[in-house]
Amino acid sequence: MGQGSACGKAILLGEHAVVYGRPAIAVPLSDLRAHATVSDAREPIIEAPDLGRILRRGSRASDNDSRALWHMLDVAVAACGGTPKSHPLRVVLRSDVPVARGLGSGTAIATAIARAVAGHMQVKLDPAEVSELVFESEVLLHGTPSGIDNTVVAWERPVWFVKGARPEVLFLATRLEVVVGDTGVLSGTREAVSGVRAARERETERLDGIMAGIGGLAWEARGAILHGDLAKLGVLMNRNHSLLQEMAVSCPELDRLVAAARDAGALGAKLSGGGLGGCMVALVAPERRAKVMSALRAKGARQVYCSTVVGSPSGGNSALC
Ligand code: PMV
Repeated sequence: MGQGSACGKAILLGEHAVVYGRPAIAVPLSDLRAHATVSDAREPIIEAPDLGRILRRGSRASDNDSRALWHMLDVAVAACGGTPKSHPLRVVLRSDVPVARGLGSGTAIATAIARAVAGHMQVKLDPAEVSELVFESEVLLHGTPSGIDNTVVAWERPVWFVKGARPEVLFLATRLEVVVGDTGVLSGTREAVSGVRAARERETERLDGIMAGIGGLAWEARGAILHGDLAKLGVLMNRNHSLLQEMAVSCPELDRLVAAARDAGALGAKLSGGGLGGCMVALVAPERRAKVMSALRAKGARQVYCSTVVGSPSGGNSALC
């Protein structure tokens, strides 16, 4: 039997622009986790009791999520030197990461599966290998993922991510306290990403200007994080939210929670992930955390989470191989 778990994630700056090559910063949410247990079976089966789902390969449902799960299982088995025929497996999934809220639930589940399969087959997969395998299932789910989700989840560290470049673990001069508020509205990353693409085809100059602005904010945020300037980081997150609004990926529910967090004393707040629903993230000083959390609940957040992000143990940013 093999077991694997993986964290959720929040994007602090740079979503959407990251798809077009701009830098982004993402952090793991280590208290929100997906878990997979893998054992030998006569027939392959994937069970997600929380979601009331049982998937059998023969009667494979044709939705994207199921295809991505089977694909993840197959590529993980292949990476460990087996085939679906030589290794018919039973996978049981459980996850605390809410689905379709921009917190990386699909990525966390895929990563947990890869780890559980590797454990079961007694093969060591390092985070870079896991990240690469999970990226393939992200392609099935989202079409054109940047790769930021699989990277931050597989490494479970705060990352500086530029598509096509080697990601870096960010050194944090001080720990970050974040509060995440869930609008309860499903966020469709695929739809949001294709909406941005369509807008960019219509208004290339305007959208490219917004993305360049977001990229600039990410660079400034990198400096702020390095120097422990959380007040500045908060301001940059606020500016990032305004640019995401201009990109039309926010929604009234997100804007309401973002405003509530700021009014309750958050250092900064913005939507996180694909948008059009899903979650917002606020950066808070520890003494304001409880106040921000209750303000979000009072303004209708379906769920509120808090997390502490710690950085690279070394004295500087370090490249991930
Ligand atoms: O999967 P989500 O909703 O966390 O969004 C990922 C971030 C995007 O930049 C919107 C898409 C991507 O592939 O980077």
